[in-house]
Amino acid sequence: MDLGIQGKTALVLGGSQGLGEAIAEKLAAEGANLVLVARNTDALEANAKRLSETYGITASGMTVDLSDADATAAFATRVREEIKPDMLVANAGGPPPSVSTGIDQAVWQRSAQMLLFSIIQVTEAAVDAMKAKKWGRVLAIGSSGVIQPIPNLAVSNTIRGAVAGFCKTLAAEVAGDGITVNMILPGKIDTARVGQLDTARAGREGKSLEQVRAEIAASLPIKRYGNPEEFASVAAFLMSEPAGYVTGQMTRVDGGMIRSL
Ligand SMILES: NC(=O)c1ccc[n+]([C@@H]2O[C@H](COP(=O)([O-])OP(=O)(O)OC[C@H]3O[C@@H](n4cnc5c(N)ncnc54)[C@H](OP(=O)(O)O)[C@@H]3O)[C@@H](O)[C@H]2O)c1
Repeated sequence: MDLGIQGKTALVLGGSQGLGEAIAEKLAAEGANLVLVARNTDALEANAKRLSETYGITASGMTVDLSDADATAAFATRVREEIKPDMLVANAGGPPPSVSTGIDQAVWQRSAQMLLFSIIQVTEAAVDAMKAKKWGRVLAIGSSGVIQPIPNLAVSNTIRGAVAGFCKTLAAEVAGDGITVNMILPGKIDTARVGQLDTARAGREGKSLEQVRAEIAASLPIKRYGNPEEFASVAAFLMSEPAGYVTGQMTRVDGGMIRSL
């Protein structure tokens, strides 16, 4: 299927590794040009070089710490005035694991800045550019925890619910401008982030990492972790031209992990 995004510009937050990197590669394979954003300059530059050489697209990296409000405000201005993306992958790192109480206020604030306020600010800037073109795609990476809160991920569960409210509200407001706004909800996709959470759980439960991973895989209907490429395939479709009538949705890519309808 032709995704109809050749020559369009995708701004991929969290594009240095993991799910963001995998989505960037899928979009590049469809001929989209890329601007990759994260903190790790070396990883961004390496990804931009590899993807531009492999797929014949233009790709660049921009170093931005999305937990820094001032840096994000300056970046949002560049998004609106220079980058003017056709597509946005709204993504960043995951907050530290914790139960709901006893969390340092600084953790709440830093996490909310990165995952909510910065995402809102960058999305608004991107959508302004998309409105002028009467075409756009926003895809926010959430979590299965939006629907079924995950034990010991209180900060993530809390903030991502707010992102879901923002995306659903925005979707209705910009649908008439040819812009879709959707969320994609990973379950257990095998990335560095999931590896860190599994390691933390192994420590809490006094088990080996292998044992914890085997238990998690066995608990999933599909009996295995997902890989970033299969997650990214769904993401790329949701950002495509043929998906133009899909908006305001949350799509689960979780191997059946969430049991509710
Ligand atoms: N993998 C899953 O199955 C899963 C499940 C549920 C939810 N999620 C969520 O989905 C998102 C992506 O997951 P992932 O597995 O790809 O995680 P990951 O491998 O940790 O990647 C996170 C990305 O965000 C960037 N990032 C982190 N902090 C940042 C900051 N302050 N400013 C700018 N960029 C920042 C990282 O790059 P730098 O370190 O270079 O900044 C990296 O590119 C995360 O929010 C995660 O919690 C993932």
